Amino acid sequence: MNQYVTGTVIKELREKNKMTQLQLAEKLGVTDKTISKWETGKGYPDITLLEPIADSFRISVTELISGNPIHNANVSANMMRSKFYVCPVCGNVIHSMGEGVIACHGIQLSPLSVEQSDEYHMIFIERVEDEYYVRIDHSMTKEHYISFVAAASSDDMQMVKLYPEGNAEARFKIRGVRRIFFYCNRDGLFSVDPVKGIDDKESGYDNSQERRELEKVADMLFG
Ligand SMILES: [Fe+2]
Repeated sequence: MNQYVTGTVIKELREKNKMTQLQLAEKLGVTDKTISKWETGKGYPDITLLEPIADSFRISVTELISGNPIHNANVSANMMRSKFYVCPVCGNVIHSMGEGVIACHGIQLSPLSVEQSDEYHMIFIERVEDEYYVRIDHSMTKEHYISFVAAASSDDMQMVKLYPEGNAEARFKIRGVRRIFFYCNRDGLFSVDPVKGIDDKESGYDNSQERRELEKVADMLFG
């Protein structure tokens, strides 16, 4: 994240907007030499120019400073593509239907990248009537715990906040849930396909040594 708008960002945005230095200069009421100075790192635009510069590129001042213009091409939300942001200072969890410039405690947060659940973050999902009962095999100490679990369908997000010393479990209405997310304060965001999660468990049972031996015996007996 940048602390202030940089010349590289101005140049990139200007070129993306197919503007010459002179065209931008005219919009801002400065000379093209000034634009050239900013772009080559020989000076910064005055703070009063930040808003006019952002306007020229049709972005917000925050995006201009961060150097990350946000492009949410699809305004119709798909919860499956949700982004999660977690503040490293206070643990605040922010859910966004698309990308955004999001800050907490003065820190600009990046969307969490999602990983497949691993051996240290095993999730168990059971269908109980119309609900998924979700349990994560993980410590729940103050230092290292699962801080939230969420279930996403294409148009719905169910989120459960968890706390240290509590249980790493949650229940979700099944209706259309396609993805379960959970966040470990140390290891980050994980996700799993609930249907696949259940099927995997079942196929794991089918492939067990016991099962195979039973099948072998059955083959021998009834051949
Ligand atoms: Fe962890």
